[in-house]
Amino acid sequence: MKLLITGACGFVGSSLAETLLERMPGLRVTGLDNLMRPGAETNRARLRKLGVELVHADVRAASDFENLPAADWIIDAAAAPSVLAGVQGALSSRQLFEHNLASLVNLLEYAKRHRAGFILLSSSRVYSIPALCALPLKLNGCAFALDDSAALPAGVSARGIGVEFSTAAPVSLYGGTKLACEAMALEYGSAFHFPVWVNRCGVLAGAGQFGTPDQGIFSYWVNAHLRRRPLRYTGFEGSGRQVRDAFHPRDLASLVQAQIHTQRDKGPRIYTAGGGAASAMSLAQLTAWCDARFGRHPVAADPSPRPYDIPWMIMDSAGATRDFGWRREVPLEALLSGVADHAAQHPEWLEMSGV
Ligand SMILES: NC(=O)c1ccc[n+]([C@@H]2O[C@H](COP(=O)([O-])OP(=O)(O)OC[C@H]3O[C@@H](n4cnc5c(N)ncnc54)[C@H](O)[C@@H]3O)[C@@H](O)[C@H]2O)c1
Repeated sequence: MKLLITGACGFVGSSLAETLLERMPGLRVTGLDNLMRPGAETNRARLRKLGVELVHADVRAASDFENLPAADWIIDAAAAPSVLAGVQGALSSRQLFEHNLASLVNLLEYAKRHRAGFILLSSSRVYSIPALCALPLKLNGCAFALDDSAALPAGVSARGIGVEFSTAAPVSLYGGTKLACEAMALEYGSAFHFPVWVNRCGVLAGAGQFGTPDQGIFSYWVNAHLRRRPLRYTGFEGSGRQVRDAFHPRDLASLVQAQIHTQRDKGPRIYTAGGGAASAMSLAQLTAWCDARFGRHPVAADPSPRPYDIPWMIMDSAGATRDFGWRREVPLEALLSGVADHAAQHPEWLEMSGV
């Protein structure tokens, strides 16, 4: 089997390449990346050693697809992945649109040409921000928790957010690009008869992730805590009570592998995947974990709200379990320990990640 991974030098793309090569004998992987993410270039040597054929190319450029070898499957892991992209930071809204959405036509035309299956790494950020902010929450120590004794809207339960939850705007410019990609990928698949799977992923984390305050928060927080960098709780009264679940890309690889191998052509195509309630914590709890490991490090508070911020996000992966027998296997503790060990071995990680 031949696989094309876009964004192959990124955290998720490189981890998927490594895991799938380990698990699928005979797999050949072509990896495409424009290396725009600071740190991505450091994954090149590792991927080459694994036998990945790396192509320095840009998904926005139609001509960059002309000479690519044919593939049976494509995993699209190239994106500007921050929820603040296009509204804060160096990337303009037009650039975000071009990287995350306009480029999709090149991938879908390539999939059409080669009859390749297409796997989109979508995001929990396709869900409606007002609806998420209106969820009934209670306090559980220093973390928000869902108050499931109150009436809940469709698509949310104690297990988390599922595909039925509202995707009404606003979802952020980033979330909007993902939602539009979902629709177009499914339409191309249906019109031109190639399989499409959409995985709305919660926070992905693990050792070797590039972390900034805007993206890769678990990696950023652990590295910054260890290096005694100033840390700050933003929004939510500066309490650090906002909660996210996290899962490792190795677990995402199991879902992708199951999707590649299924023969099913009917039924759901969109799934939510994430760490789930057992793999969730607030920022304040993450600080407590770091304090216990590295010694106490104070965190400042900035109560001013951040655009697009949400208090609680846990993914309900019941659909993936039902249809693919999928379960997250890497526990949060192992994931965090891996990040901490990696941080200890790489004193320059924050600088390399562009912080
Ligand atoms: N990390 C998460 O928590 C998370 C959660 C949900 C979804 N996702 C999605 O997973 C995918 C991978 O995310 P990640 O965390 O590995 O991010 P990452 O920034 O580490 O990797 C993205 C890679 O894509 C490359 N890239 C960006 N624009 C490109 C372009 N125009 N042409 C070619 N390459 C380009 C970058 O150089 C980078 O190596 C993204 O689509 C992201 O939206 C990530």
